Amino acid sequence: MVLAILIRFSCFIAVSAAPFSFNDNPIGNGFPMIVNPSSQLTAVSIAALGSLPNLPPPPNAPSADSLTSLRLIAFNELFEVAFFTELLSNITNNVMGYEIGGGEDARTFMINALTAVQSQEELHVLNANGAITQFGGEAVEPCVYNFPVSNINDAITLAQTFTDVVLGTLQDVVSLFGTDGDAALIRGVSSVIGQEGEQNGWYRTFLGKIPSALPFLTTSTREFAFSAIQGFVVPGSCPNLNSIKLQTFEPLTITTGNPEPRNQDLAFSVQISAADDWKSSYSLTYINQQNLPINTPITNVNIVDKTVTFTANFPYDAATFGNGMTIAAVTNSTGGFTSANDVAKVTVFGPGLIEIS
Ligand SMILES: *[C@@H]1O[C@H](CO)[C@@H](O)[C@H](O)[C@H]1NC(C)=O
Ligand SMILES: *[C@@H]1O[C@H](CO)[C@@H](O)[C@H](O)[C@H]1NC(C)=O
Repeated sequence: MVLAILIRFSCFIAVSAAPFSFNDNPIGNGFPMIVNPSSQLTAVSIAALGSLPNLPPPPNAPSADSLTSLRLIAFNELFEVAFFTELLSNITNNVMGYEIGGGEDARTFMINALTAVQSQEELHVLNANGAITQFGGEAVEPCVYNFPVSNINDAITLAQTFTDVVLGTLQDVVSLFGTDGDAALIRGVSSVIGQEGEQNGWYRTFLGKIPSALPFLTTSTREFAFSAIQGFVVPGSCPNLNSIKLQTFEPLTITTGNPEPRNQDLAFSVQISAADDWKSSYSLTYINQQNLPINTPITNVNIVDKTVTFTANFPYDAATFGNGMTIAAVTNSTGGFTSANDVAKVTVFGPGLIEIS
């Protein structure tokens, strides 16, 4: 079966439910406020089926740029814990839209799997924040979150999409650890890349897709992940967001729903603050797999008040472009990019996330 699913991270469908706050954690395990470190950590480790790394820490403090990566990881993992905590609570409590069909075994399997994922993500947070505080840095604190989903299928589709972004972004993080002289951090984060890949194979299978999306997963950059995750954060709710020194792009919305795997024009929209904020020098750039980013001209621009709508070709090719996750960005450039980082440097609006599998 060929499925094409598209998520608009930045454009919320109105949901009536209250935003998620750890102050009101429905699982009630106190995370991320550790009151009794040894007993709480033991309980989390049992649920996670394993422990925090206990190897000796790196001898030297991470570079400032590596600390930025660790902060981004903590920020992302906190968001993931929030998501899986609420998802697990929805399923456990048979919230409407979260009733698991297929008998009691299927429901038990889902709860067991998500209980492990939720606790494993908690350990990912503690590991990243631990690496920051080890050398005197300030731990990243959780925000209040809103998830634009209200049924199990949309929730798992969202989990698959943000995990794709993470799997792309950790490629950027480990490359930077290498160039920043922090090779000692690469092994542990690489173990998490595989771990998140295992999760994603299950999310894909749940959605009726084959487990492995691509031969080489789509790459991303820290800035794209940082911008995308902020789409789930209640503005102003993060106590120390400004400790994460990364650029945030303006949101890009893809208005074409569920693009098919074929060459086609996609419709987009962005919000601007003044009419001359939209430049004729902009184009639409796609990042897919480990390939050269593709630049396409922006067409059919229409500016009404502060909303800009436009189209751009999506040059799908079954062999070379467009399967799995594609990151779309409005860039102030005419292309010639040789990496995702080149794209991020000139991105104005993004990321738009396209999923085809
Ligand atoms: C849990 O269910 C509520 C009510 O439908 C919904 O608003 C929320 O987004 C759901 N959370 C997740 C993570 O699926
Ligand atoms: C776009 O690029 C041009 C040429 O490089 C530069 O002069 C201009 O400041 C850029 N505009 C924005 C909004 O980034």
